[in-house]
Amino acid sequence: MKYLIANWKMSIDQAGIANFLDTLEQTSFPKNVVCGVGAPFVYLNDISAQLAKYKWLVGAQNVSFAQSGAFTGEISASMLKELSVDFCIVGHSERRAMFGETDEVVNTKIQRLQEQNIAPLLCIGETLEQFEQQQTKAVLERQLKNSLANIKCTKGLIVAYEPVWAIGTGKSASNKDIEQNIVFIKQILRKMFGTKAKDIPVLYGGSVKPENASEIFLLDCVDGALVGGASLDCQKFFEIAEKMS
Ligand code: PGA
Repeated sequence: MKYLIANWKMSIDQAGIANFLDTLEQTSFPKNVVCGVGAPFVYLNDISAQLAKYKWLVGAQNVSFAQSGAFTGEISASMLKELSVDFCIVGHSERRAMFGETDEVVNTKIQRLQEQNIAPLLCIGETLEQFEQQQTKAVLERQLKNSLANIKCTKGLIVAYEPVWAIGTGKSASNKDIEQNIVFIKQILRKMFGTKAKDIPVLYGGSVKPENASEIFLLDCVDGALVGGASLDCQKFFEIAEKMS
């Protein structure tokens, strides 16, 4: 089973969501692709209600490291659970770069999500500088080991390999790099979790669009995609899904 997950970021509004849902209503997504949407907090309630009939997964893009209390502006995992959220993105490079989300914070957030049975979608990936200095594997290994330290349960866990330099740039990684790095991630997961690791889907993210989807999904090791820009338009998202199926 392949996964196709939208990361809408802060790039959509109510009118955009209405458009997306209108197109979705008239489209028949392939049944063998699990689709989901990572929506801004304020739309989660509506989205949960609207997507239920399509059996799409509903996701948040962030969660607090704390359980509850005096954390002005934060949203807890138990609040997400009340809105029937299925998964939550953690460790996205934009949150790491702009909001100081370290592997240790990511680890705490994963614990909070698991307490509520919400699937963590853990994003990892190297920056351009790290890529150029051939540090990719070391970065991926460190991010996995630290973000998943002391995590015993892998149920629902999803990992997304997103080279930072490929996000929002229109330039996806080469198939050779995607394959090498996803195979490497799977090896590390296997070392950490043994046979349970085979149930952890590893997605690719970074400028996935209808034009490059067929090529990327030729790779057997890629269990799906996390899509930003091209997920805002339901027609494009659908074309990607078709190429995965
Ligand atoms: P992109 O974003 O598809 O626009 O590159 C991917 C992501 O940030 O998850």
